[in-house]
Amino acid sequence: MTYPKCGTTWTQEVVWTMRNNPNLDHPKAGAPISARSPFIDSDMLMEMGKEKSKGLMFELLKDAVPDADPNEGIALQLTAHTPDPRTIKTHLPFSLMTPDLLDTAKVIYVARNPKDVVLSFLHHCRLIKTIGYVGSLDQYVDYFVNDLLIYGPYWEHLREAWPQRDHPNMHFLFYEDMKADPKAEMKKLDRFLGTNLTEEQLEKIAHYTSFEEMKKHEKEALQGKNMDTFLDQEVLKKDGGFYRKGQAGSWKDRLTDTDQSKIDIWTKENSLTLGISFKYSI
Ligand code: A3P
Repeated sequence: MTYPKCGTTWTQEVVWTMRNNPNLDHPKAGAPISARSPFIDSDMLMEMGKEKSKGLMFELLKDAVPDADPNEGIALQLTAHTPDPRTIKTHLPFSLMTPDLLDTAKVIYVARNPKDVVLSFLHHCRLIKTIGYVGSLDQYVDYFVNDLLIYGPYWEHLREAWPQRDHPNMHFLFYEDMKADPKAEMKKLDRFLGTNLTEEQLEKIAHYTSFEEMKKHEKEALQGKNMDTFLDQEVLKKDGGFYRKGQAGSWKDRLTDTDQSKIDIWTKENSLTLGISFKYSI
């Protein structure tokens, strides 16, 4: 569970690999991530994006469920047919999930500093053709701090998750910590998930899921050969793909002083009441 652009796909790959592919020899490891680890709220996004992405997702579903019904929720059918242990992605906040979620499932919540999130989100909205954002960075920062982006408000999303961080079925993870020491964070995940992996397995998974390695298989991992049809090729060439920079703190090269102070004021107001702080956010 994450607000968008906080490292969801990375965490999905780490968790799916730890649970299903500890020796890096699973025959389906190269299949698209959403076919292995379904994204339950993607039916809603497909309705918004209309036919094209729906068709692509249905292709994934047909591989896993030959008698799938194209008129029913695609992600939900895929989720229902995913073998245990299931690793399910959502960007929905706690308040839109079933109230007994933590009694029935282990939840990993990933958070990331808002300045990197806004840039990553802006890139995403320019890259995905069905979103096709053409406005400025300044305007986008305004949308972000005024809570006008999808899945927002950002702080409300966090506010619903942070107080639950000590629940035995909840694991709270920061993108910045994963970046600083992936193996240490994977050891914590190993204890939380009960996967009992060896040092050597964790070492190899940390390498396999590093930005550089995941970038090599970006097309296959995201939508297979069809990925190019829903990405803006100019944005892709100029600013990068879905895996863009993969860094913590890279906002320093990009955000103007005005944008930084808008986010700083907004962060100060919210993070103090919440009692949460992010590395690389100032
Ligand atoms: P950037 O746009 O800053 O590069 P999500 O999966 O929640 O949409 O998050 C996407 C962000 O996670 C992107 O950030 C992407 O590059 C980054 N990311 C994906 N895989 C990663 C990895 N293996 N290591 C570090 N960052 C990764």
